[in-house]
Formats: sequence, structure tokens, C-alpha cells
Amino acid sequence: MPTERTFRVWRGGADGELAEYTVEVHEGEVVLDILHRLQATQTPDLAVRWNCKAGKCGSCSMEINGRPRLSCMARMSTFEEDETIIVTPMRTFPVIRDLVCDVSYNYQKAREIPSFTPDPETRPGDFRMQQSDVERPQEFRKCIECFLCQDVCHVIRDHEENKRNFSGPRFLMRVAELEMHPKDTEDRRMVAQEEFGMGYCNITKCCTEVCPEHIKITDNALIPLKERVADRKYDPVVWLGDKIGLR
Ligand code: SF4
Ligand code: F3S
Ligand code: FES
Repeated sequence: MPTERTFRVWRGGADGELAEYTVEVHEGEVVLDILHRLQATQTPDLAVRWNCKAGKCGSCSMEINGRPRLSCMARMSTFEEDETIIVTPMRTFPVIRDLVCDVSYNYQKAREIPSFTPDPETRPGDFRMQQSDVERPQEFRKCIECFLCQDVCHVIRDHEENKRNFSGPRFLMRVAELEMHPKDTEDRRMVAQEEFGMGYCNITKCCTEVCPEHIKITDNALIPLKERVADRKYDPVVWLGDKIGLR
């Protein structure tokens, strides 16, 4: 039996506003279904990005009642029956229109990270790694690039000025993955601190809380990376090498 629900949806660009709609909801539906019903019945020009409707493409990220979420995974049955559902675009990125943001900041940050750099002398078949080193990055590789962690992180959420110096949790996780790779020859520790803004992260763990893939971004990537940065910074041999210009 369908019910009528109240939705408030962001319409327009940065200077847009919330518009209220009453819309039918059927059993088993998710927020993205309701946005599609709005498009089909009341707002054919409502802009919303989506693709897989299975929580795997990372396209349908938005904020639902203020929380960064995938709209295709937000079940209507999890809201109170009389609850008004407020749907807004991700706040950290510029709005293009309605629920669609310009997420190019993230692609820019991805491009800034030097890629995997193995020893050029290593021949095919010579890579030998511990099983634990093989398994560690598999968690990080579950990332679907939904950018919800980037959206929620307070360092850039309300601080446009920090975007230039901070890569955000998703890309610091990539730096950590490479830094912990036993066959990567780059020393990424000071770069993590000085170019990707590791020091801005104060381990609030909000990124981990919103990750739809349940990646332990803070515990398994950011904290180990911070520990490695600290090890290098306070290593007396490194300090001496820096002083006498050997490093
Ligand atoms: Fe999304 Fe998680 Fe990847 Fe961040 S780490 S972009 S929250 S899947
Ligand atoms: Fe931001 Fe995550 Fe650190 S939310 S402050 S990157 S722990
Ligand atoms: Fe692909 Fe939601 S539509 S993750």
C-alpha cells in the first residue's frame, strides 16, 4: 500500500533553495526511487546523478537529512513515518544544479599523487610479497569513489581555503597504500605531510563513519601513515642527514 511522504529537495545552483513535494512511496523503495518518481511525475528537470542503483558506482552521493549518503542505499523504511526527508547536494563541492555537484577537486587530487614506482631492476616474476602486504591494500581498493568521505571531512567541508593544501581522506588513503607497499621505492612520508596535508587531519574519523564500503580509512590508512611520518621526522639519522645536506 503506497503512502504519501513529504520531501524537501534542493533546486537550482549555489543560490538555489529547498522546494517541497508530496510524493508517493512504495514498500521497499530507496530515496533514489523517490527522486526518480519526482522526475517522472512532477519535476522532469530535476538533476540527479546515478548509474548502478546497487551501491557500487559511487555516483548517487548526496546529503539526506544532513548526512552524506548514497541515495540508492538509503531505504525509505529507515525513516520515521512522519519524517520530512531533506535532500541536498554534497556541501563540500560546488553545486552545478539541483543534486549534482562538480567533484573535479577529487580528480585533481588523484592526479597529484605519483603513481606506484617499483625498482626498475626488478624483473617480471621477481615480485615476492608477504600475504599480509597483499591483503592490506585490498581493503583500500574497495573504494567506489563516491567522495562521501571527502564531503564529510571538516578540514575542507567549510574551509574552501584548505582545499589547495589538503588531499582529503580518500587520497591520503591512496598515499598510505603506496607508502606501505613493500615494492614501492618512493619515500612518500614527507610528501604526505607537506604536499598532501596529512597534518590537517586530526583523526575525527567522520570519513570512516560515512564510508559505504566500511573501509577503516582512519585506523588502517591515516593513522599508520601519520606514524610513518612521525618516525621519519624524529629519526636522528634522518635529522642529521638533513642538517648536513645528505638527504
Ligand atoms: Fe567513498 Fe569510502 Fe572511497 Fe571515501 S573511501 S570515496 S567514502 S568508498
Ligand atoms: Fe578528516 Fe577523516 Fe581526518 S574526516 S580529519 S580525514 S580522520
Ligand atoms: Fe551507483 Fe548509487 S547509483 S552507487
